[in-house]
Amino acid sequence: MPLFFPGLPDDIQIKHQVHDDWTVKNWMHILSVDEMQRRTGMRSEKRQQNFTLGRVAIRTLLSDHMQISPSEVPIVIEPTGRLSAPDSGQLLSLAHSGDQAIASISMRNAGVDVEEIREKPDSLLDYILCEEEKKHVYGLSIPHEQLLFVCWTLKEAVLKANGTGLRRSPRTVQLRIDPISQTATAVDPEGNPWHARFVVEDPYVFAIAFDPNPDAA
Ligand SMILES: CC(C)(COP(=O)(O)OP(=O)(O)OC[C@H]1O[C@@H](n2cnc3c(N)ncnc32)[C@H](O)[C@@H]1OP(=O)(O)O)[C@@H](O)C(=O)NCCC(=O)NCCS
Repeated sequence: MPLFFPGLPDDIQIKHQVHDDWTVKNWMHILSVDEMQRRTGMRSEKRQQNFTLGRVAIRTLLSDHMQISPSEVPIVIEPTGRLSAPDSGQLLSLAHSGDQAIASISMRNAGVDVEEIREKPDSLLDYILCEEEKKHVYGLSIPHEQLLFVCWTLKEAVLKANGTGLRRSPRTVQLRIDPISQTATAVDPEGNPWHARFVVEDPYVFAIAFDPNPDAA
């Protein structure tokens, strides 16, 4: 079943890619020379597969949008680490975790994240929440084992959307979550507002944050 974020604006396109040996083997040729070199430099096969999966997701998404073959999509890495595709008119975001990858393209700023739910100390949730947020978050009807990952992915998606990534602590992003509609609003460290959506597909949590203004690039 395709990944679905409830109420995601139509102008934001996403691609969800799940690992299988066939995909990695048969799509590897679409990677650029630089990407192949980076892949080869990765020590574990798992990381190589994960990286390939992410590139397949973003390249096929842009290929459909630009009407060129996936291998021709011009992807560059910005000094911040963020990907961009000159001439596509789109802003990109990418995330990979475990055997999953998610990519987004849109004219407005957006950021995606995915994390595999795993055992983590409760202190980590305390660490990424400010005092105000704790009162809100601990009262939410989200299963305890998912709560950290819902908060984390939403915060990381916001930090990727604003381009700073984890140079800023997730604690600097203020969240307000509605578990029923699987939506959230957030304010980043610069005071900018963001809207967000999240989906739990056990054992993964996916999140996307985007500029509430559709005309903002
Ligand atoms: C971006 C970052 C949040 C990724 O976190 P992660 O959970 O390890 O990985 P994810 O799978 O969620 O995301 C990885 C993708 O985020 C994207 N990304 C990297 N830096 C980014 C940034 N500043 N803003 C937005 N997106 C970014 C890239 O596309 C990357 O995929 P790639 O490595 O295959 O190109 C984190 O690595 C970061 O903040 N990096 C920048 C700061 C830093 O410490 N840089 C040191 C690099 S020398």
